[in-house]
Amino acid sequence: MPILYNGSTQEFHLQTKKTSYIFSVMENGQLGQLYYGKKLRHRESFERLFHVEATPNTACTTEGDLVFSLDLVKQEYPAYGTTDFREPAYQVLQEGGSRITDFVYQDHRIFGGKEKLEGLPATYAENDGEATTLEITLYDKEIDVEVRLSYTVFEELDAIARSARFINYGEADINLTRALSVSIDLPDSNFEMVQLSGAWARERHIKNRRLVPGLQSIASTRGTSSAQQNPFLALKRPETTEHQGEVYGASLVYSGNFLAQIEVDHYDTARLMMGINPFDFNWLLKNGESFQTPEAVLVYSDAGLNGMSQTYHRLYRTRLARGKWRDRERPVLINNWEATYFDFDEQKIFELAQSSKELGVELFVLDDGWFGKRDADTSSLGDWFEDKRKLPNGITQLAKAITGLGMEFGLWFEPEMVSKASDLYNAHPDWVIHVPNRRMSHGRNQLVLDFSRQEVVDFIYGLMAKVLRDAPISYVKWDMNRYMTEVGSLGLPADRQREVAHRYILGVYSLYERLTSEFPHVLFESCAGGGSRFDPGLLHYAPQGWTSDDTDAVERLKIQYGTSLVYPVSSMGAHVSAVPNHQVGRVTSLETRANVAYFGAFGYELDVTMMTDTEKEQVKEQIRFYKENRSLIQQGQFYRIESPFAEDGNRTSWLVVSDDQSEALLGYYQVLSTPNPGLSRVFFKGLNPEFEYAIEGLDATFYGDELIGAGLQLNRYRLSEHPADFSSVVYKVKRV
Ligand code: DGJ
Repeated sequence: MPILYNGSTQEFHLQTKKTSYIFSVMENGQLGQLYYGKKLRHRESFERLFHVEATPNTACTTEGDLVFSLDLVKQEYPAYGTTDFREPAYQVLQEGGSRITDFVYQDHRIFGGKEKLEGLPATYAENDGEATTLEITLYDKEIDVEVRLSYTVFEELDAIARSARFINYGEADINLTRALSVSIDLPDSNFEMVQLSGAWARERHIKNRRLVPGLQSIASTRGTSSAQQNPFLALKRPETTEHQGEVYGASLVYSGNFLAQIEVDHYDTARLMMGINPFDFNWLLKNGESFQTPEAVLVYSDAGLNGMSQTYHRLYRTRLARGKWRDRERPVLINNWEATYFDFDEQKIFELAQSSKELGVELFVLDDGWFGKRDADTSSLGDWFEDKRKLPNGITQLAKAITGLGMEFGLWFEPEMVSKASDLYNAHPDWVIHVPNRRMSHGRNQLVLDFSRQEVVDFIYGLMAKVLRDAPISYVKWDMNRYMTEVGSLGLPADRQREVAHRYILGVYSLYERLTSEFPHVLFESCAGGGSRFDPGLLHYAPQGWTSDDTDAVERLKIQYGTSLVYPVSSMGAHVSAVPNHQVGRVTSLETRANVAYFGAFGYELDVTMMTDTEKEQVKEQIRFYKENRSLIQQGQFYRIESPFAEDGNRTSWLVVSDDQSEALLGYYQVLSTPNPGLSRVFFKGLNPEFEYAIEGLDATFYGDELIGAGLQLNRYRLSEHPADFSSVVYKVKRV
């Protein structure tokens, strides 16, 4: 039983395959934490772990008792103002101005499976045996408000999903000024915080810092999860590596403003918290209303960062992503964006499709510029009907012509945005996020549609659904190219203006929900000016996302390596693009560009009609190779071996291994060529030590234990005839 409850001590013991999570009802009725980490054998009581002693200079809850202070105990969902001086998990502003609460244990239920989170993406169980959920009800009688804490244990998948729900039964209104999804108090602070930080074109770079007393946090205030910080953090022991040592991961299934924070207190404990960013947030909860927080997914691993990542990969690939495309091999696509930008017509598009079909491409994606009068990024967002100047026969005919070639057809939308120069804006200037009588800032010349309003979402749904109904479209790229400013909605009263950012995200989710339900055959790929909203929330609807606008092979090593901390290979859109690279001007070989892009949802983004015959042959071979290996790549276990973030960082290597360990694919990359370099070996992971393997292109076989223990010696210079910068090799390893 993955959730054990001891009625006499009121202790809960949650067990996954390798972890234990233990907490109990404390003497004051609130929830106290006992343990989270490597699995412990179950016993009647773990109370011994709950050690409290009197300390000087603090506040205590009960008269005459100098021991029990919330300042000293580890808690599950802590409050501020009643002897705990750390930042709280939530705060309830009440009529009269009080923020003091006392949520005490009322009851709980344990059930097989997992309930949906209303309006929010979340992990799920396909049957009641896959997961077990504990829902604990805490109640504050003074205000007649409940908090329901939910813990779902994915025993086999080795993860715990947490969220909270507030329900106001009271007559009086309350305001949630803070409602985080999770809080965990770890008993020491000997950790490094690992985060994924960046910017446009350099998303999700790995950054580490040693914890120090005080607050350390990452957050987004941009209206989306953002390229600047990803809604994820890990706490690893200083000695933890990719493959050894302890690490705690926390990942938020949310696409909007978030906060992920560690507070180290004066006794060196570390409080980890995560949820909707309380900054500029407030939620008015009237009688009978409830508020559901997003879900946070916790993973503990004693097998290093890579162990944590593999748990996230499996859970997110199989029980967060949904729909027909979840388990399917993803099509090799070509996208016309970097080939044409806005400058194309029907003939050009058809030629691109035709040439790429000859190379083996399976899906043609028509990117930005097909609608309204969109010759530049200054107009037409919101006018989702074809531009007859460019496409005189319309989208439907073009899609039919392309599918007639034996390819699938995909289309780009940016549903959440509107250009000032558009029919939509002319008709509904009030449908944008803005504050009356204040300047409307823009980003990429565009405004953000007010998705907190149902009628706006309905309208965009109508336009998109019509296009999807009329034309044979099996893929949608859903882009989003600016952050939010002057956040306000004409659809909400004054006391709900701080709800806009969250309501907006709920609107985005609801549109995704409707479209994915009505068009289950369509593969959605999320995008936000590259990877500015690459998060678990969107993975629920779109099983792949555009990882970054930066398609340079060298830059992609860092981006894909960092992204893989949480997100599965199958979720990372990765394309071979032209050189000199449009983002950084670097020239890398076609081989290296493909060798990097193979480790993702693979495609091309260049003008194939301009390629030489030799290049075309090379591309044909690359596509053949990818198709042959894509189930391994998209569903295998991913191992990071050498990090581009290492001090030298000149080499990167990674590996995917099939579940049955019968095959693997190694990617090895060297940024700069070195004169008379040292000998280099790459040490495999995840192979079966007992199996004998052949490596394609090498004239020898190796046992798994040799490849793991002794490593594979690589050619000193490159990896082919001549030494060169940006060289790489991909080895297919197969059991003989
Ligand atoms: C940003 C995306 O990341 C690109 O791939 C492309 O779709 C452009 N937007 C189109 O405007």
